[in-house]
Amino acid sequence: MAEKTIDELCNELLTKREKAHQGGGEKNIEKQHAKGKLTARERINMLLDEGSFIELDEFVEHRCTNFGMDKSSFLGDGVVTGYGTIDGRVVYVYSQDFTVTGGSLGEMHAAKICKVQDLALANGCPCIGINDSGGARIQEAVDALSGYGNIFFRNVKASGIVPQLSIIAGPCAGGAVYSPALTDFIFMVDKIGIMHITGPQVIKSVTGEEVTSEQIGGARAHNTTSGCAHFFSKTEQECYDKVREVLSYLPSNNMEETPFINTEDDPLRQDNSLRQIVPTHSNQSYDVRDVIRRVVDNGDFCEVQELYARNIVTGFARVGGRTIGIIANQANYMAGCLDIDASDKASRHIRICDAFNIPIVTFEDVPGYLPGLKQEMGGIIRHGAKLLYAYSEATVPKITIVLRKAYGGSYLGMCSKDLGADVVIAWPQAQIAVMGAEGAANIIFRKEIETAENPTLKREEKIEEYRDNFANPYKAAQRGYVDYVILPEETRPVLYKALIMIETKSELRPKRKHGIMPN
Ligand code: HXC
Repeated sequence: MAEKTIDELCNELLTKREKAHQGGGEKNIEKQHAKGKLTARERINMLLDEGSFIELDEFVEHRCTNFGMDKSSFLGDGVVTGYGTIDGRVVYVYSQDFTVTGGSLGEMHAAKICKVQDLALANGCPCIGINDSGGARIQEAVDALSGYGNIFFRNVKASGIVPQLSIIAGPCAGGAVYSPALTDFIFMVDKIGIMHITGPQVIKSVTGEEVTSEQIGGARAHNTTSGCAHFFSKTEQECYDKVREVLSYLPSNNMEETPFINTEDDPLRQDNSLRQIVPTHSNQSYDVRDVIRRVVDNGDFCEVQELYARNIVTGFARVGGRTIGIIANQANYMAGCLDIDASDKASRHIRICDAFNIPIVTFEDVPGYLPGLKQEMGGIIRHGAKLLYAYSEATVPKITIVLRKAYGGSYLGMCSKDLGADVVIAWPQAQIAVMGAEGAANIIFRKEIETAENPTLKREEKIEEYRDNFANPYKAAQRGYVDYVILPEETRPVLYKALIMIETKSELRPKRKHGIMPN
């Protein structure tokens, strides 16, 4: 037989490539589009810088022979993997192709994902997974389960070293949800993204409950109620834009600094409107994001878990072009108190910031911990302890700005000097005390009030006395628990200078394998 010419060989390659790019074929692509979902390759192209994607393993095929699988094979085995850039920085990516056996995961499909995970870790670059899959490929039995195990193992190995981001743009069921859960951020697309351990039918047969997929696994459910997701998007385009935005705040790995972006916002800019936002009366409410936006570069604030545990606000922003991580009590939701969900949300964000060299700025206005049986029996002790743990464990620069209330245990919980805050700043209306003036006066002056000729008047008098003496920032400043008391409008320049001052912070702790965080 004559040798093939180079042109014949090249044409062969082109035909094979074309076949690989068709995934599960025209009909399945149409079905995918009809469900309101993009194909695996369309997604990658939308996510990465234009033309930057380089595909790996496009000719990989499964080697399963069970249930007639040897007669049906698709190039690429239902997942598109490779690398490209986002804002010019290299990222690794995999995108499950639902048009090929429902994006189900078998041995080779998993091996492709593991390869990009390994490359991301070895080269110190983020790894992004786009999930759209029927789960373990049933025909491949334990080989499929092993595939998941290998992915989980790599998720954990890379945790805190390179950013790992999961996009849920289709079904994600059974144990398959644990790979996203092991990553740093989960982005869900409304209507098409579903995550659950057991689906509606299994739930009905076991517990009798009648639920829909959307109720137990939809983007809204996980963003608002379970807290399993971090970002909610209405469309896929919005989701990929969000992924790009989040990455812009993160370094490529834990040994790098965060990217510097020239935001062209004067770091010494003062904002006089800050005086009007936080009421001096301790029971009046406001939106802490109005404070944050006035302080950070160009008002750009990327909120994380915006819809979950809204009594605490977490996110990323920049000051002077460099990323900061933000934790802030939200006065206009449950008065900004700390509860189980808020503690979980904030402590996780603190650890992400600490892992990726992001200074933590805490805006504090906290009345205390939420009282009640549900909280106590839900384990507020161990959940609340996470916050103390995460702040104390973090060795990145930590700056706390006391806007108003800082009472009792929650004062410590929001990163006081004692938990390692490098700089504590207070506004003039700050009240750093064991509790609010009303509660305090009722306890320590109880006898005096009860025996007074006019108890109501006496109570008012004593509350006033307590307020004058303790409900201010100056008692704490006297002891050095507060480094400086500033005018609200000075916040941005003071914060910027403090960040520069502690930029070179380096803190070594005694060597250990790892601490044991309460959970
Ligand atoms: C093999 C699968 C598959 C799977 C779907 N397909 N899931 N093939 N293994 N797990 C195939 C279907 O047979 C079908 O093939 C094609 O993918 C598209 O599926 P449809 O059902 O037509 O699509 P749709 O109606 O959109 O429904 C999607 C779905 C449903 C909700 C995901 O397919 C489904 O319920 N699949 C099973 C989900 C599941 O139970 N997976 C196992 C979970 S346990 P054809 O040839 O007809 O086009 C698990 C354990 C992980 O994952 C453990 C990790 C530790």
